[in-house]
Amino acid sequence: MPSAARIRSNYAVVLAALVFAVAAIFIADTLTDYAVAVAIFHTAVMLVATRFLGVRAVAALAVACVVLTCLSFVLTPSGDYKIGLINTGISVVAIGVTAYLGLKLKGAEAQIHEARERITRIARLTTLGQLTASIAHEVSQPLAAIAASAGAGRRWLTQPQPNTEKALAAVDRITRDADRASEILDRVRRLARNEAPASSIFDLNAAVTEIIALSSSAAGASGAVINADLSESLPAAFADRVQVQQVVSNLLLNGIEAASAVPKLSPRLTVTTRLVQDRLTVAVADNGPGLSAEAAEHLYDAFWTTKTGGFGLGLTICRTIVEANGGRIWTETSPLGGARFAFDLPVAGDKP
Ligand SMILES: Nc1ncnc2c1ncn2[C@@H]1O[C@H](COP(=O)(O)OP(=O)(O)O)[C@@H](O)[C@H]1O
Ligand SMILES: [Mg+2]
Repeated sequence: MPSAARIRSNYAVVLAALVFAVAAIFIADTLTDYAVAVAIFHTAVMLVATRFLGVRAVAALAVACVVLTCLSFVLTPSGDYKIGLINTGISVVAIGVTAYLGLKLKGAEAQIHEARERITRIARLTTLGQLTASIAHEVSQPLAAIAASAGAGRRWLTQPQPNTEKALAAVDRITRDADRASEILDRVRRLARNEAPASSIFDLNAAVTEIIALSSSAAGASGAVINADLSESLPAAFADRVQVQQVVSNLLLNGIEAASAVPKLSPRLTVTTRLVQDRLTVAVADNGPGLSAEAAEHLYDAFWTTKTGGFGLGLTICRTIVEANGGRIWTETSPLGGARFAFDLPVAGDKP
């Protein structure tokens, strides 16, 4: 049976049972002596009614109970009239109070329900907003690189003597960055759906070297120098390679942005890989201003940013990714004087 029809039929059954109870109480109240206050049982009917019926039905039932209580007082043939009057008065007041309190409770329940619905709606919107912003944040880098390569390619081709070799290299970079953008979109989608990372066994140093090359070309304008201090003969990592690269890329970008904000400072960064107690660790250090106390407290809060054009999502995404890959992310003092972010990953033998 469809649920709407079932609810309607349940409603009819409850209503019929309540009308039957009210009628039974009325008959019993009329047939018994004034001293027997059967009408007080109408309050039980009201309690059930407020639980199952709508506001109007409850109010109508309350009026009916009061009317029937008074009618039964008039019709009752035997007993002490004064006691009957008092009992009827008490019953009428009790019915009224029960109906009033029941309806008030119903109103409060409806408000709670509405508030809960509103919270769910807001939560959904926030998730959607975060998802949109994280996609924009993560894809903006490869998109900027694509635009730069396209510009370069155009220049090589429109020279008096076109340089096809360099133009082709630019086209290759465009292909590579477009692939990367679509890979990132895939990872953001996975994160948003709470799916497990697409883990594989890979060479951490090779992945880090690749992303340093990408970030260096993107950081060209800022004149940032990125050094690699990679430990030799590391065991293979077991994680989502693209996601790990996303984390390193975000940390590098933050370091470059922090150091570039200091006047007359040429940004220097170092990426370190190490094996520490059977865990692979990656650290990104910069020579920027370091972390303020406030920053240290809010680093991973979504949408917390000190930059005018910032999203405040880079580190939130980093932490989500690192934890999804079975690691932790933390900050240390930088040997270069600025900030240093580090995270760890499981080695291939320790896959969960
Ligand atoms: N390497 C760093 N040095 C100094 N401050 C940093 C560094 N990395 C992050 N921060 C601070 O943390 C904030 C949040 O970073 P993030 O989540 O990446 O968002 P966004 O870069 O969009 O501001 C930054 O606005 C900045 O204030
Ligand atoms: Mg950032």
